[in-house]
Amino acid sequence: MNQKINFACLRAIVIVITVCATYKSGIFVKAHGTLPSGRVTPRLSHASKGQELTGNWAVKNPRPDGTVSKQYFNLRQEGDKIRGTIRSTQFFYSITDSTGDANAFSITASMKDGTSDRTVKYDGKLVGDELQLWTRRRPEDKPSESVARRVPDCEGAMPAKLPLPALKKLPYNGLAKTPPMGWNSWNLFKSRVNDEIVRGIADAMVTSGMRDAGYVYVNIDDTWEGESRDAHGNITTNSKFPDVKALADYVHSKGLKLGIYTSPGPNTCAGYEGTYGHEEQDAKTFASWGIDYVKYDWCGARTLYTDAEMPAVYQKFGEALQKTDRQIVYSLCQYGRQDVWKWGLAAGGNLWRTTGDISDRWDSMTRIGFSQNDLAPFAGVGHWNDPDMLEVGNGGMSADEYRTHMTLWAILAAPLLAGNDIRNMSAETKSILLNNDVIAIDQDKAGKQGERVWQQGDQEIWIRELNGGDRAIAIFNRGGANVDVTVRWSDVGFKSTPKKFRDLWARSDVKTEGPEYKVSVPMHGVVLLRAR
Ligand code: GLA
Repeated sequence: MNQKINFACLRAIVIVITVCATYKSGIFVKAHGTLPSGRVTPRLSHASKGQELTGNWAVKNPRPDGTVSKQYFNLRQEGDKIRGTIRSTQFFYSITDSTGDANAFSITASMKDGTSDRTVKYDGKLVGDELQLWTRRRPEDKPSESVARRVPDCEGAMPAKLPLPALKKLPYNGLAKTPPMGWNSWNLFKSRVNDEIVRGIADAMVTSGMRDAGYVYVNIDDTWEGESRDAHGNITTNSKFPDVKALADYVHSKGLKLGIYTSPGPNTCAGYEGTYGHEEQDAKTFASWGIDYVKYDWCGARTLYTDAEMPAVYQKFGEALQKTDRQIVYSLCQYGRQDVWKWGLAAGGNLWRTTGDISDRWDSMTRIGFSQNDLAPFAGVGHWNDPDMLEVGNGGMSADEYRTHMTLWAILAAPLLAGNDIRNMSAETKSILLNNDVIAIDQDKAGKQGERVWQQGDQEIWIRELNGGDRAIAIFNRGGANVDVTVRWSDVGFKSTPKKFRDLWARSDVKTEGPEYKVSVPMHGVVLLRAR
């Protein structure tokens, strides 16, 4: 496919040079058509009737951070069909169907994304030299409008796929001996994150006690990248992050570490500059900035490489990080495709996302958290399953639901990356994120991920074996009403009755005897015990 793109592009370069030269000489412009305003519109005379759509069209929307969000419609009108491609942030679609012409048209385009197909549909019309376009994200949405203008034919073309290294096993970098803890900007701030927010978060990590509880990584997610690379091909930052090195120095001065985000593709998920073709260079840049953690998000790589090529793509950057003079935690983010838990470690990864993105809702959090059972064998010291960042404190769930979230992540030995505004935490949020007994379960140095041992209807019991023989027992109630659950020790794998344990949310010690323990669990809530 990529060779096809390049060949087409080469041909197009010749055409573009001719077209651009002719356009400059002004011979294209000729009065043609009337706008609703009554203004006479110029049209390109090279386009014979029915050919007006042929060309490369771009929608360019400046972002407040000085970068430009771009979308390309590379169209060819052939008879009564419109063919070509659409490039939209990280996606690259081929037009599969069309109706109409420049006066009113519809195009449907699709792409393969791993094992699934993605489809987009646009309606449009040519008005003067503007291509007006409408699309809907979901059928029930109001159509959103954009305007595309002609650009040189090769602008925005997808680059070719790069050769990939032969697979091998990279050595362990010695980091993340327990699941990484810290904060990440994406869940709450998305593209609003900036230098000031990150500094404010770093300050609050210290004053709130988060740092001392173990949350040390302050991770900048997507949207920090500049519009283009510098003359030497170095990645740049946009106006929200004037100086990452200075920011890293600040974060380090607080006893914290700084993380950053990029993609193996030409674009990140939010459509910013990716690391494609600059793997070693970006790894070096990050090291020189003082970066301690990199999240490498598949995104724009999805149209260049197949899922089967993921291990090599991730290994390539893993090796680039290991070649730098800095110790950098390597976080793989490719949504759990291609059984990443089977090769993430060999690619140099310290953690790998196991699912799509979490959102601040009970159904999203539980769909992710409770689906992790089979992955337990793949986690261990230095390499963790990552069911995505925490939503605790973001407002979309009740306190019981957030306790379930935090408990489940601790049982799963998951990274604990808070995703809320640390500068403004309620006492309740603090009591959840800063419960040191629960954190101790997550950070247990044996590094053994917990598993489901019992399930009845909406009730589930999960157990995590801890260093020194302790066990964490989480009794979850996923149902919509409070219930009493009777834990029969023999049912949950205990040979003998634990004599005492601690209730980690009630923060009290409990004595028990007999073959079972009866406990009341609130709706969507949890009781978490640590048995000795
Ligand atoms: C993907 C990732 C998210 C976040 C965004 C940023 O969706 O899975 O965690 O990094 O990209 O664009």
